[in-house]
Amino acid sequence: MTEPVPAETGFLPGPIILLGAPGVGKGTQAKLLMARFGIPQISTGDILRDNIARKTPLGLEAKARMDHGQLVDDEIVNSMVAERLKAPDTARGFILDGYPRTTAQASYIEQLRNASLGSDEAGNAASIRLPFVAINIFVDEAELLRRITGRRICSAGTHIYNIYSNPPSRESVCDADGLALTQRTDDTEQAFHKRMDEYRAKTAPVVSYFSDKKNLFRQVDGSRPVEEVNAAIVSTLRQLRAGESA
Ligand code: AP5
Repeated sequence: MTEPVPAETGFLPGPIILLGAPGVGKGTQAKLLMARFGIPQISTGDILRDNIARKTPLGLEAKARMDHGQLVDDEIVNSMVAERLKAPDTARGFILDGYPRTTAQASYIEQLRNASLGSDEAGNAASIRLPFVAINIFVDEAELLRRITGRRICSAGTHIYNIYSNPPSRESVCDADGLALTQRTDDTEQAFHKRMDEYRAKTAPVVSYFSDKKNLFRQVDGSRPVEEVNAAIVSTLRQLRAGESA
């Protein structure tokens, strides 16, 4: 289990978008950034899975698509994100993990930001008025499959393991809270291939969309150990924010 470094208060990274294919390490890195900077991780996948666990109408609607590795409708995820950004904990910044995933979602979040500029009444986080910095994590596809099929998650959803690269000390038990480890229903090889098809068709254009904003976008090699990837992301965030104010 990777220990988070102590929270840092001197530098505020603002709103961050973590991009990358299924299993590249967005969730793992988002949790480390959350612990370091004291800003929340907003994972659309986690919000959807929470709705499925609570059997809400939204969860029931999304479940079949998620189990088959297909994206959920833009309208559903856009309104989920807009609602989440109203919470006060996003005021200092936030990490979008798994969103935006289509160009329509990318346009939506930019519009939400524009609507908030100069307006105290839009109801969104103050930090959304800062430009987004987007980091695309990349890893080769064979490694992604290994990460996806080896992933295990504690029942509380807070701790992520991997039977190959980061196994728990006791099989199928979370080191941190003793809860049972589970496997996501979409972490099968079959669903992985569908998720990759969706990624190539719908999310790769989002990477191009952000890569055009050169001073707000960087690529990070996610094939290195978790701590090294994290150090690269933190240093990239500093460079991007310094460049923005220079
Ligand atoms: P979501 O939950 O967002 O899944 P995803 O994007 O496919 O990404 P993952 O959560 O699988 O991987 P990750 O990159 O977070 O990797 P992790 O850190 O866990 O979405 C699921 C579904 O919800 C979608 O298919 C769709 O149906 C729906 N959905 C969600 N958002 C949507 C949206 N915006 N629009 C429409 N539909 C949406 O790491 C993976 C494994 O690798 C772990 O075991 C970890 O321990 C290990 N690992 C991580 N880093 C390293 C490393 N550096 N070295 C070795 N192992 C590592």
